[in-house]
Amino acid sequence: MQAVSNKLAERIGDVPTAVSAEYKPRSDGGKMKALAWFGTRDVRLIEAAIPDITDPDDVVLRVTGTTICGSDLHLYHGEIIQLQQGDILGHEFMGIVDRVGPNVKNIQVGQRVVASFQIACGECSYCKQKLSSMCDRTNSSGLQNTMYGHRDAGFFGYSHFTGGFPGGQAEYVRVPKGNVNLLPIPDSVPDEKALYLSDILPTSYHAVVDVGVKPGDVVGIWGLGPIGQCCVRFALLKGAKRVIGIDNVPARLKLAQEISGIEVINFSEHTDVVKRIQELVPGGLDVAIDCGTFHQPKTLLHKVEKALMLETDVSEIVNEMIMATRKMGSCAIIAAYAGYTNHFNIGALMEKGIRLVGCGQAPVHKYWEELLEMIVERKLDPTFILTHRVSIDEFPALYASFDKRLGGVEKVFVETRFSAPPSTGAPKLSSVAEWGEEVYTV
Ligand SMILES: NC(=O)c1ccc[n+]([C@@H]2O[C@H](COP(=O)([O-])OP(=O)(O)OC[C@H]3O[C@@H](n4cnc5c(N)ncnc54)[C@H](O)[C@@H]3O)[C@@H](O)[C@H]2O)c1
Ligand SMILES: [Zn+2]
Ligand SMILES: [Zn+2]
Repeated sequence: MQAVSNKLAERIGDVPTAVSAEYKPRSDGGKMKALAWFGTRDVRLIEAAIPDITDPDDVVLRVTGTTICGSDLHLYHGEIIQLQQGDILGHEFMGIVDRVGPNVKNIQVGQRVVASFQIACGECSYCKQKLSSMCDRTNSSGLQNTMYGHRDAGFFGYSHFTGGFPGGQAEYVRVPKGNVNLLPIPDSVPDEKALYLSDILPTSYHAVVDVGVKPGDVVGIWGLGPIGQCCVRFALLKGAKRVIGIDNVPARLKLAQEISGIEVINFSEHTDVVKRIQELVPGGLDVAIDCGTFHQPKTLLHKVEKALMLETDVSEIVNEMIMATRKMGSCAIIAAYAGYTNHFNIGALMEKGIRLVGCGQAPVHKYWEELLEMIVERKLDPTFILTHRVSIDEFPALYASFDKRLGGVEKVFVETRFSAPPSTGAPKLSSVAEWGEEVYTV
């Protein structure tokens, strides 16, 4: 898939952008540790050149915290196209400003900042509305333009389909347009609470806001990974009277049930999820949100069709949501999809008057200040999903274990040699090998 998509992309050609994707190495020849993609289920820790200021709007960060995301698993499984061997991954990171380009006026060397997973230009019509993930001027993928009619913004560490920018699972990162893509963090907020402003907090908040959860709603949430768990919290914050979470990973079901206090459905026990929801909520859900993953088909039909490349993505969760939601209710997709699917229940969607919202890649800039304020005011504490802390040296093992959801892993804080010690109450450093043997596969 990668070879074909890269060939096709070459033939279509790149779209001009306002930023360059490649960085200039530092003149002293300094090296850093970074995690790079080499093939399906093949990621390696490499020694890469430390980036320098390449464009005048750049900022270079010394990374103090990074992590792995469910979206990285799509790369790990080779499900996102235009990956190239040696691509540095990672789109969620924070750090201390190491160098600043001459055009950057609002960020100073030594400041603590979080980066958004998307690279916005700050000037196009989307950026002016803070729809940073939709920026028109930072993603060079002509292939994405051909497939979707338009392009997302460029993203850090997420293949050449989103611009080919080196990512943040590294000791240093170059942040293009550093004047708009960094959020300063006050001293009162430790790294473990700030890092998740990069992606998962704005993403899950966006899903709940975009689909319009209202007081009194009954909400179903498919997938209880970090995104789903945060959607649970935000749905409750917006006044949902009942939230039902669906997954089959015991530790994740337990977290949602015991810590967030919601009802859960284990889809391995209740294989007919729609029937189970109809038993629990006879009239149907008001709102359903897809926080799952398109590379884990449940049914033989989709397994076979996917294996034969008759479809790239799977419609199972979307169909369950449409069936389980009341007439004229709303369904949202915040889970990432990339291509095409079969057996989509378009009839039920139309006849029931379901409002199906594709939330898009979340516009982090629209929400991150509001969410930081909630953290500062202690109305929001994202550490409820933080289960482990590991060293950057463990990244390859972390990918394998996060993929299998070993040892109750939910969200991880990955430290570098620049990280502060764990803050009070946050997980202590562990080794992936010690995590325990709770193995889970679909
Ligand atoms: N739109 C955005 O901006 C954005 C940003 C970040 C992540 N994402 C996407 O959100 C999704 C969730 O991210 P995450 O980090 O929580 O991922 P994750 O992989 O940790 O969690 C996904 C969960 O979905 C569950 N699941 C799989 N199949 C299911 C099914 N049929 N029914 C119910 N649950 C099912 C899995 O068991 C798992 O617990 C991913 O698809 C990710 O790519 C989107
Ligand atoms: Zn992410
Ligand atoms: Zn823009």
